[in-house]
Amino acid sequence: MDFHLNNIIGKSKAIHDVLDLVKKVANTQATVLITGESGTGKELIALALHALSDRRDKLFLPVNCGALPETLLESLVFGHVKGSFTGAFANQEGLFEKARGGTIFLDEIGEIPQHLQVKLLRALEAKEILPLGSTTPRHIDVRVLAATNRNLHNEVEAGRFREDLYYRLNVMEIHIPPLRERPEDIPELIEHFIKRHNPELKRNFQGIDEAAVRVLMALQWKGNVRELDNVIEHTMILAEGERIMLKNLPSAIIASSQTHPGFTFNLRDALRQFEKQHILRALDQANQDRKEAARLLDISLSSLYRKIEELEIS
Ligand SMILES: Nc1ncnc2c1ncn2[C@@H]1O[C@H](COP(=O)(O)OP(=O)(O)OP(=O)(O)O)[C@@H](O)[C@H]1O
Ligand SMILES: [Mg+2]
Repeated sequence: MDFHLNNIIGKSKAIHDVLDLVKKVANTQATVLITGESGTGKELIALALHALSDRRDKLFLPVNCGALPETLLESLVFGHVKGSFTGAFANQEGLFEKARGGTIFLDEIGEIPQHLQVKLLRALEAKEILPLGSTTPRHIDVRVLAATNRNLHNEVEAGRFREDLYYRLNVMEIHIPPLRERPEDIPELIEHFIKRHNPELKRNFQGIDEAAVRVLMALQWKGNVRELDNVIEHTMILAEGERIMLKNLPSAIIASSQTHPGFTFNLRDALRQFEKQHILRALDQANQDRKEAARLLDISLSSLYRKIEELEIS
């Protein structure tokens, strides 16, 4: 398996903590629940856990639990015997058996139907599965990793996810924070994606301009690292030359950079940005009534007027 920890980019404390945890739990049999918003790198971390375990020479089988109707998912994961449902013409081994000695990665575990949650719990606890239509349990030897971008705890509270299964899966949780909480990872990620896309796109980009990086570091990135990757690829396809400039970024991003200040490490500037945004928010809340906004902010009206002047709030 061609995987290296160096493939996981990031110098933020958040990513270092994640990688430390990965190294500690990789070579155990522990079930790991990987959580994080969409595009934060959950599958990448699952791969790392497999690649750093002594199961690395066996299979890593990912399955998206949200993508299939219940019977197909059950048959895919647990297998079925001939005649167990219309179209089951032969016995079929499930992924739990196919993965023997390896790792199964249950992606979008929050989507798994209730009745399969019971079967999964049994698989985890007794290391046995029952293929669809069979009455003879089969022993399995597989490491289970799972991922979700939902808050499983809330799913438990809402009665959609079994509490016992949640605790069984959650023996070890690795949480990957969203990209907006670790903007310092963005410059390296960009360089990484440029290097990766150069050969694919037959281009020879040497890097990216600092002004463009600052704008990208200030964005919210709802789609996280995947979205950043897509933006870089899109930009590389359209840009001329060998360096990505601010003007090459998608127009929606350039437009947002005009209303939002770019990212800065300068503490005074950062505090100023925060103060300005916070006051704007209070003014919105108060329907632009300055007296009410001052009350919300717990400052005097004259201080508020001074701030509005200083911070160029219109
Ligand atoms: N730290 C990182 N370093 C390098 N590449 C990363 C990093 N994090 C994510 N990526 C890349 O971003 C993309 C999305 O990652 P991945 O598919 O693992 O996310 P995910 O959390 O499983 O997303 P989803 O919830 O949408 O399934 C992949 O191309 C992956 O290689
Ligand atoms: Mg994924």
